[in-house]
Amino acid sequence: MKAITIREPGDADALTLADVDEPQPAPGEVRIKVAAAGVNRADIMQRKGFYDPPPGSSPYPGLEVSGTIDALGAGVEGWSVGDEVCALLVGGGYAEYVTVPAGQVLPVPAGVSLVEAAALPEVVSTVWSNVFMTANLLPGQTILIHGGSSGIGTMAIQLAREVGARVAVTAGSAEKLERCRELGAEILINYKEQDFVEVMKEATDGAGADVVLDNMGAKYLARNVDVLATSGRLVVIGLQGGTKAELDLGILLRKRAAVIATSLRARPKAEKATIVTAVREHVWPLVESGRVKPVVDRTFPLVDAADAHRAMEASGHVGKLLLLP
Ligand SMILES: NC(=O)c1ccc[n+]([C@@H]2O[C@H](COP(=O)([O-])OP(=O)(O)OC[C@H]3O[C@@H](n4cnc5c(N)ncnc54)[C@H](OP(=O)(O)O)[C@@H]3O)[C@@H](O)[C@H]2O)c1
Repeated sequence: MKAITIREPGDADALTLADVDEPQPAPGEVRIKVAAAGVNRADIMQRKGFYDPPPGSSPYPGLEVSGTIDALGAGVEGWSVGDEVCALLVGGGYAEYVTVPAGQVLPVPAGVSLVEAAALPEVVSTVWSNVFMTANLLPGQTILIHGGSSGIGTMAIQLAREVGARVAVTAGSAEKLERCRELGAEILINYKEQDFVEVMKEATDGAGADVVLDNMGAKYLARNVDVLATSGRLVVIGLQGGTKAELDLGILLRKRAAVIATSLRARPKAEKATIVTAVREHVWPLVESGRVKPVVDRTFPLVDAADAHRAMEASGHVGKLLLLP
């Protein structure tokens, strides 16, 4: 089969289409003939050599796909050859075929095309597990989502809006903030021109944010803690602004607040299956009713994966970039 391989760690040109062996489903796995694969920022980190796949997993990038089940490993129940699905992967999505534990597979939601479904598994699982299962965002609470126009951000806005939370976002342009407003964000902060702590304090009568979903890490840590409300929860899921910074525990203690950092990819299979089950129960009905939608910016042929990476690094997109084998 054809797959995108990483010739050697480096820039986007390191991505090369190659002929590789088709993966065979192990017991408990299904094999998917890929219709589309989502591009995630983590794929760029992997390409650069900073985010190696966990031992035993596919060396090729790609954390989510949609497609059709074409083979079943021993002992798989509940799925059949021919089912149209999407799946949360540990790697290997940039390919014509990929294998995945059956517990990480979801049906394509009614009303969503087979291709668009590739935009869902990674972002929905990340947002649901962090914002709801971990940070327990409740109706009436305020959430600040950094990078509101990202793949993650566009889904976080919609799901937070659906539970009745008040949504604030940061983004780097007026156009992106307008897209975030259309998705349900109320407090719009241009991080290039405004101080998000000041804007948030003003918008919440000094209370701050109950939950912050952060993609920046070190660069925003002090200000994120500053912006937290009493009993607030800061969930760091990205380290685009570095890994090391000073944390004032005194502020955390006075606010009775929490700082949590998580990664989805390294979680054991059973944890991923629990998250996927929760997503199917809580998020799939919202998608099937049309209230929550995958946000797809552009698609690229699989052979042009390097262009998709360059597009993500240029950050001109809103929502997801997809690859089509
Ligand atoms: N921990 C996990 O399990 C997990 C899982 C999935 C994703 N993630 C993380 O989630 C983040 C989003 O991923 P993605 O795939 O959706 O990537 P993406 O679409 O490329 O989004 C990256 C975002 O970063 C924003 N950004 C850049 N500088 C910023 C700044 N100074 N302040 C606020 N935002 C800024 C960009 O916004 P502008 O274009 O407006 O500058 C862009 O929206 C990444 O950090 C990724 O690593 C983590």
